Amino acid sequence: MTSIRAIQLHRDDDKRVQGKLVELPEPTPADGEVKIAVAYSSLNFKDALAITGKGKIAKAFPLIAGIDLSGTVTESRHAKWKAGDQILATGYMLSETVDGGLTETACVHGDKLVALPAGLSMRQAMQLGTAGFTAGLAVQRMVENRQTPELGPVAVTGATGGVGSFAVNILSQAGFSVTAISRKDSARDYLTAVGADDIVTPDALELGERPLESGQFGGVIDNVGGDLLSSLTRVINEHGNIASIGLAGGFKLSTTVMPFILRGVSLLGVHSVGCPMDQRLSVWNHLAGDWKPTAFDQIASHTTDLDGVFDACSQIMDGAVTGRYLVEIGGEG
Ligand SMILES: NC(=O)c1ccc[n+]([C@@H]2O[C@H](COP(=O)([O-])OP(=O)(O)OC[C@H]3O[C@@H](n4cnc5c(N)ncnc54)[C@H](OP(=O)(O)O)[C@@H]3O)[C@@H](O)[C@H]2O)c1
Repeated sequence: MTSIRAIQLHRDDDKRVQGKLVELPEPTPADGEVKIAVAYSSLNFKDALAITGKGKIAKAFPLIAGIDLSGTVTESRHAKWKAGDQILATGYMLSETVDGGLTETACVHGDKLVALPAGLSMRQAMQLGTAGFTAGLAVQRMVENRQTPELGPVAVTGATGGVGSFAVNILSQAGFSVTAISRKDSARDYLTAVGADDIVTPDALELGERPLESGQFGGVIDNVGGDLLSSLTRVINEHGNIASIGLAGGFKLSTTVMPFILRGVSLLGVHSVGCPMDQRLSVWNHLAGDWKPTAFDQIASHTTDLDGVFDACSQIMDGAVTGRYLVEIGGEG
């Protein structure tokens, strides 16, 4: 029987979860599923949480890890797809309740797949991965809610992370002035290269204590949460949007209604996992077209194979990675 290599999440008798590189029998697609020769996957904060066992991501065991994949259909039991189609998948409970993308061969339900948009390679799709998609979704939600460059610069927190870096690059492509907020003072050259107009550390921001302070930003894409996001709510200009994505610095948000009722500021939730398919397709079309990033290789500057995933996940958990990890599995073929 043919076997495949995959990173699988296991839970031991003490309920400790750990990722392991294993050999498995080649999977067979169930009704509605599509079999995929995986070209690339990627590593997000969530993958690192799952594989190191530091976060409760998987809800079934054993389960193949990896929330992202791109690849080529080799067999289809879904009406929409045929052998040879190039596809991508992000989120949609991959690595949570169904097998994910850190594998040589995946079987995924056809309803979760997106046709690789013209203008993106399978490699670029995974350089973006969930991080780039989520950044694009945030920009789309803001623009739909009337965010314009005239409202002022958009601040991006956690700017050197995967989502943050692509948010900076995409906003810049979409014509916005971008203020990158990063703890890494050493990353100035990197952030300038990916599109930041201004770079500031959280400590250097002067955000005041009052419910409303002088406006400084037209909007925010936030990956950090906690005190930083709470303080930023005070300094958003009239009709600006705050897109809440992450909790790298904490999950609490302490604010008042003042920014919302006296400045018309909107707090937009960004939930990439369950993003409806029509919105998903619209974001991917922007990412392949008018918002196509210019800094794929600067941002996804780290590449690993399946063997190197564990070391890469430890680096991500240590906050030591600038940009993002691409996982090369079968490659473009
Ligand atoms: N809502 C969604 O659909 C969705 C999708 C993807 C990711 N997320 C979440 O978004 C966040 C970013 O994800 P990612 O994949 O970009 O992660 P990442 O690559 O690890 O980047 C996170 C960034 O946040 C900053 N950071 C890390 N630890 C911090 C701390 N303790 N306090 C303050 N800042 C800290 C760092 O940026 P600096 O050093 O530059 O400050 C770091 O590079 C995560 O919380 C993730 O779970 C949510």
